[in-house]
Amino acid sequence: MRASWITWLPMNTEVEYRAFECSSNQTLSTSWKSAKGYSRQINVGRFTDRYSMIHTAVMTHLQSDCKYEYHVGSGLFWSETFKFNGRTPEDGNTTLASFIVYGDLGTGPYAEYTRVALKDELKNNEYLAMIHLGDFAYDMEDREGRVGDLFMNNIEPYAANYPYMTTTGNHEKFKNLTHYKDRFIMPWNEASKNSSYFYSLNIGPLHMIFLNTYAYFKEKFINEVLTQTNWLIEDLKEANKNRSLRPWIVILGHHPLYCSVDWRIPTYPENVDCQIDAPMLQSHLEDLAYTNGVDLFLTAHVHNYERDAAIYKNETIPSELDTQNMHYNPNAPIYIVTGNAGNRRARNDPTSKTPQFWARYLSDDYGYGRFKAYNETHIYYEQYSAQNKKTVDSVWIIKNRLSYAPLD
Ligand SMILES: [Fe+2]
Repeated sequence: MRASWITWLPMNTEVEYRAFECSSNQTLSTSWKSAKGYSRQINVGRFTDRYSMIHTAVMTHLQSDCKYEYHVGSGLFWSETFKFNGRTPEDGNTTLASFIVYGDLGTGPYAEYTRVALKDELKNNEYLAMIHLGDFAYDMEDREGRVGDLFMNNIEPYAANYPYMTTTGNHEKFKNLTHYKDRFIMPWNEASKNSSYFYSLNIGPLHMIFLNTYAYFKEKFINEVLTQTNWLIEDLKEANKNRSLRPWIVILGHHPLYCSVDWRIPTYPENVDCQIDAPMLQSHLEDLAYTNGVDLFLTAHVHNYERDAAIYKNETIPSELDTQNMHYNPNAPIYIVTGNAGNRRARNDPTSKTPQFWARYLSDDYGYGRFKAYNETHIYYEQYSAQNKKTVDSVWIIKNRLSYAPLD
């Protein structure tokens, strides 16, 4: 488990942690363990230089049945104490894995519904992690990086107590995504190096793949696209080899591959996100996902909630059995957009006036998703309206086989 924090002045980097509750009968050792980390100077300014130190340290040898407390600091000065669940990827535990998931969360008043609801939500300790699918703060570099700092302080109550897993959106583009890369350190892999652009992990019955969809929109990122694609091909191959252990493959990213025309910009002749950008992304990712039996795409960017049926090549693909809120043995990926945690403007999209025929549910309430992978046969997603304090939509995806695509 990695902790990251910022100080203005250079100082040592240390984290102290200990288990305070374990479900097994073992005797708890109450002594603190200590780990040293490293720090480096980052320039968070936009028009002028504004420096701070980003520190990061990793807590190791955690037990998945224990809860931990920790604080970070210099060895002389310490933060307040935070808590986290010791269940981490690759711990061999294939039971329930549940997450909060959203995209497009800012620092302004439209994010307030979500910020308030999440504080309550996370008291229950029901979730393993939070997933933020790009577009942070609007924008982190604004006011010489103070908006980024404000955002990090806003999310601290949850991000310090839960793993905060990220992908990059289009609002992180300043200086080649410098704020994203500096502030969020995601699991490392050989191909992505230290970029946090793309990575995958195994947890519970899931193989989760986090992609950088922004790269597909800029020619200058052609090498990143190639590197990511080659990595993705190998990653999917490996995930399919392990499918009997983790039958669910979920891809997470910022930009949707499918969404309905949403009239985000009423005067604009064509909707860029859904009519132009989404088909472009389909051309890069859809076949790869389909031939590898990917079960679900979770994305954001469009500022609403949209749940679609299983789709391939813009056609609804029937499952063995479909109802409004359930798909049994789907035969193509299912697509969900959850991009309305609270963006910068009061541009809460009116729910699409022309939902596509594969669209199953749309909502323009501010809120977030609750995603639960129960076991090898059942996963569940529901969209919670933070604004109206109720669940607005839910879906069960059920299967009694490892994959709809043939496995080698
Ligand atoms: Fe976006």
